[in-house]
Amino acid sequence: MVRQHVNPLSSLYQQPLPLPPPGELFSQPHRPLHLDIGCARGRFLLALAQAEPQRNYLGVEIRRALVEAAEADRQALQLSQLHYLFCNANVSLQDWLGQLPAGLLERVTIQFPDPWFKKKHHKRRVLQPALLGALAAALLPGRELFVQSDVLAVIEPMVSLIDASGWFRRPLADARPWRASNPLAVPSERETHVLSRGLPVYRVLYVRTDQAAAALGATDNPD
Ligand SMILES: C[S@@+](CC[C@H](N)C(=O)[O-])C[C@H]1O[C@@H](n2cnc3c(N)ncnc32)[C@H](O)[C@@H]1O
Repeated sequence: MVRQHVNPLSSLYQQPLPLPPPGELFSQPHRPLHLDIGCARGRFLLALAQAEPQRNYLGVEIRRALVEAAEADRQALQLSQLHYLFCNANVSLQDWLGQLPAGLLERVTIQFPDPWFKKKHHKRRVLQPALLGALAAALLPGRELFVQSDVLAVIEPMVSLIDASGWFRRPLADARPWRASNPLAVPSERETHVLSRGLPVYRVLYVRTDQAAAALGATDNPD
């Protein structure tokens, strides 16, 4: 059985990993890139990559067994516009984002991140200021960041952080505080589960502004 939660601050997950060369990830590495952070078993990207094959898709996930299973599915379908990588997003992703060719990153999704309810565990949550700064630096104005969760106590601090940064704005036509629907062609696995139980989902689509990105506060200390 796959354990439900991995502590991203554990010493097991502090080693930065190298980003494979883009040509090893995708057959056409210059296509626009969608990055899904915390992709779990990868079924959302697997479906989206087939529904909209015109861009590349990269899923990153801290649970290695899920990445291996997702990669096996992808290889079985011979999808060369999709790849899954094991990493701790808070350790490796800043560097990886900095290595991407300027303008390649088209969209980032963070969907139903692990909640880590206890206050002393909030620093284990994936959207930390340093990661947001790296995303803002890699996304050109007009590019998208989509976040959603079924837990208000998780999504509200994420949205507060993103709103306060000035690096992202919401499309004028979008309902406040939460979008009525998912703008993507495919729901995430967790989203499907939550909706099947008739529970609410809180979503915000952000668009990158032209405000220059800079460091947003200190990085986090391991507990
Ligand atoms: C609740 S699941 C949601 C999965 C999927 N996004 C969905 O909506 O169905 C959150 C996922 O994020 C992963 N995760 C949590 N912290 C992470 C980190 N620091 N780096 C990479 N993945 C992380 C977890 O292992 C888990 O698979």
